[in-house]
Amino acid sequence: MKVATPDPNLPIGVFDSGLGGLTIVKAIQALLPQEEICYYGDTAHLPYGDKSAVLVQEFSRNIARFLVKHPVKAVVIACNTASATALEEVQKVAGTLPVFDVINPAVKVAIESSRTDQIGVIGTRTTIRSGVYTKKLLSHSPTARIIEKATPLLVPMIEEGWLQNAVSQDVIDAYLSDTGFQQIDCLILGCTHYPLIKPQVQRYFEENYDHQVEVVDSSLAVARSLSSGLLQRKIIRQDPKKTPHHIYFLSDYNVHFEETARVFLGKSLHFEVSPL
Ligand code: DGL
Repeated sequence: MKVATPDPNLPIGVFDSGLGGLTIVKAIQALLPQEEICYYGDTAHLPYGDKSAVLVQEFSRNIARFLVKHPVKAVVIACNTASATALEEVQKVAGTLPVFDVINPAVKVAIESSRTDQIGVIGTRTTIRSGVYTKKLLSHSPTARIIEKATPLLVPMIEEGWLQNAVSQDVIDAYLSDTGFQQIDCLILGCTHYPLIKPQVQRYFEENYDHQVEVVDSSLAVARSLSSGLLQRKIIRQDPKKTPHHIYFLSDYNVHFEETARVFLGKSLHFEVSPL
């Protein structure tokens, strides 16, 4: 069956529960500067990580419908919780449009980086409960030892803009000092909010471990898999001379979000509020 090709000049749809997906947007914009992005941050329903899989599937379906209608040429699920629970739902809504998740690329990077096959994963409760990381890592490396830990305080802390203060340091230390992590040589940041505190996580291991721990976030790997997917489908944007126009939607306006987004991306973003 011949798959219909979307217009290459359409934007790429990217969504997350809030700010975290911007870590993926940043990587996409660095690798594919000619592409336009249509971002949706579901701030009205944040955090996803404590919700049931059924509810996250419903939110994800609604956002996917919004993006497809916008329209977009591809959908990036820039959220681990939604990737863990709602990939199939989003694929159903997207129909013939390509859909990219954030879990498979992170798993591949972790398998390539780890020398001892002792891999830690931190993420939201719903992501960790899904067991998707263990399942996928073991499918690549059946003898690996995987230690998954839910770290639910990190998302509200990051959304609050607390990336580097005494409280964030204590929270990071409390989670990472779990004895289960002592032998790992690779830690997957299994939530797209966490790259915002990646330097702090790296510093924790440098200061407390006498062996090296690779801290893996999926943003670059996701951007690479998107790039090859667009190339394969021949839907790379055709008009690179025209400056891309990005558009950022939120389901609920929140001033902390805007401020943290500015600090993180190093530029102000204009958000349009469009509840679902
Ligand atoms: N950034 C998201 C993730 O990767 C969701 C965090 C949340 O809303 O709980 O899981």
